[in-house]
Amino acid sequence: MRKKIVAGNWKMNKNFEEGMALTSEVVNMVKDEVSADKVTVILIPPFIHVHAVAALAKGSPVLAGAQNCHQEVKGAYTGEVSAEMIKSCGATHIILGHSERRMYNGETNALLATKVNVVLATGLTAIYCCGETIEQRNAGKHFEVIESQVKEGLFHLSAAQMKQVVIAYEPVWAIGTGVTASTAQAQEVHAFIRKLLTDRYGKETAESICILYGGSVKPDNAAELFSQQDIDGGLIGGAALQSRSFVDIAKAC
Ligand code: PGA
Repeated sequence: MRKKIVAGNWKMNKNFEEGMALTSEVVNMVKDEVSADKVTVILIPPFIHVHAVAALAKGSPVLAGAQNCHQEVKGAYTGEVSAEMIKSCGATHIILGHSERRMYNGETNALLATKVNVVLATGLTAIYCCGETIEQRNAGKHFEVIESQVKEGLFHLSAAQMKQVVIAYEPVWAIGTGVTASTAQAQEVHAFIRKLLTDRYGKETAESICILYGGSVKPDNAAELFSQQDIDGGLIGGAALQSRSFVDIAKAC
């Protein structure tokens, strides 16, 4: 039985004060309302808040993560942040390959494969994102796109390393648009990803890996999405910026 994960990706939102208020609210609500055995709740703020979010959440079941990291361990890379720095700030997870970074920062599968390596070598969990654009889906190419994202970014890993990875399927056309993939569309792709994992790593490993859905998840559609066999929780954007909606999504697990 895979434990579900609900991760809130704040993107470039919340100043310090707002981020601390949101963290305190979520931590308190999760303590009172969410069963820690059923779901792992992760807050993923901008880098600059990671340490403070992790410190505020310490001692609670809520974890902290980061939205990206650099592919090198350290060095002369002005403006960049390493996986080790993120870990030392108390975070446990790092998102890699979010479609916004693929789109605006030119991140490729090959680059992401190197980032995955550094995240795992640091002892953190990578949340590796994949997903097709609307043009790719309309052209019937979504399975092909997802297959290459998953294979090129992850399939160099050993089975033991793969178990340190969470995959997030986020159709680009569903992110921030209010259009959610239908439950059937999401489950179809999740099952496809699980089959890729089974073919490469075997059933035991494939069955142990969490595959999250992301893209306009809200309290009113979360329960149905999360009830699907291969949907193990969500990567939440807009609805994670407000404590009530985020915690209600966690409660839908
Ligand atoms: P959204 O974003 O929930 O606002 O659609 C999800 C994401 O990009 O991770």
